[in-house]
Amino acid sequence: MKISSFVHFATFGVKTILFRKKLPILGTVIVTDKCNLHCKHCSVNNITAVIHPYEQVRREMQELYDMGIRILFFCGGETFLWRDGEKTLRDLVIEAKEMGFLIVNVVTNGTHPIDLPEADLILLSLDGDREHHNDIRGNTYDTIMNNIANATADNICFYMAINQINKDCVAHVCRTARDTKNVKAVSFNFHTPYPDTRELALTKEDKKKCCDTIEQMMKEGAPVFNLKSAFPYLINNSFPTPCHQCVVIENGKISTCGRCIDVPDLCSECGYFFVAEYTLLFRGNIKIIFEMLRTYLKYI
Ligand SMILES: C[S@@+](CC[C@H](N)C(=O)[O-])C[C@H]1O[C@@H](n2cnc3c(N)ncnc32)[C@H](O)[C@@H]1O
Ligand code: SF4
Ligand code: SF4
Repeated sequence: MKISSFVHFATFGVKTILFRKKLPILGTVIVTDKCNLHCKHCSVNNITAVIHPYEQVRREMQELYDMGIRILFFCGGETFLWRDGEKTLRDLVIEAKEMGFLIVNVVTNGTHPIDLPEADLILLSLDGDREHHNDIRGNTYDTIMNNIANATADNICFYMAINQINKDCVAHVCRTARDTKNVKAVSFNFHTPYPDTRELALTKEDKKKCCDTIEQMMKEGAPVFNLKSAFPYLINNSFPTPCHQCVVIENGKISTCGRCIDVPDLCSECGYFFVAEYTLLFRGNIKIIFEMLRTYLKYI
């Protein structure tokens, strides 16, 4: 990370903590909800299947920038399906950087060729070993691994959503992140049980076991892009929600924290690690502050 970016984030953090501000710093643009997959745990694919036009996406990026957001995510649906005429996702990433976003990340299912060297991180969903990943995501594991091997930069971070199907694959994914070329790290989430996927929810005991495994893997040198100080809060769902420093924009509608904010009672069962990490950080949790500094400076 550039020193100037670090200074910007540090200043934002200090102001937010001292003055209990609720201004956002992290924004996500949903470029489409169209997807080539139908993963068992996902409730947000192909609801409209509209690919939003370039001018609209650009306006939304500008709107987030004007709100003070400097960490931008592009997400879907499948993000790599986005295009408008000659414009591709890569053009959006380059324009976001030119617009002044300090960190620009992309979330993808990894089934398309990966040529995005300008992105700071490509969060690529890997949900277990071949058997369990394919059980959740269809027969995609080998395609994804091949795309990773042929990626044009080493800016990939695995993104695993842990649920009842793949809860015993955590160590395997940590080792795969450590041993795979072009992969920097792995970041986890627990399943957030939307009404149509409640059967995949983890119990408190499941979450504890997963966190113990992640901690053990960290001790063994696995590159985990999460904060272990947040684990007790994630296990007990005792972190504050929603995260006021994060917003999502989808088809012109801005939501605080996630598009899931409108699902009744979901926040009390939220499994998104970033929510725990960010809300605890901006409440001034000292352990989280130091661990975040160490972790972010290592991977971004
Ligand atoms: C909605 S997908 C969009 C980007 C891309 N299609 C992908 O699969 O990475 C973003 C991330 O959310 C995760 N996800 C989807 N539904 C979830 C849920 N109910 N709880 C936790 N994570 C979920 C996916 O596994 C994926 O890592
Ligand atoms: S690839 Fe992503 S958006 Fe598509 S169904 Fe799977 S989790 Fe949902
Ligand atoms: S806290 Fe609520 S709105 Fe935020 S990600 Fe979790 S479930 Fe969604």
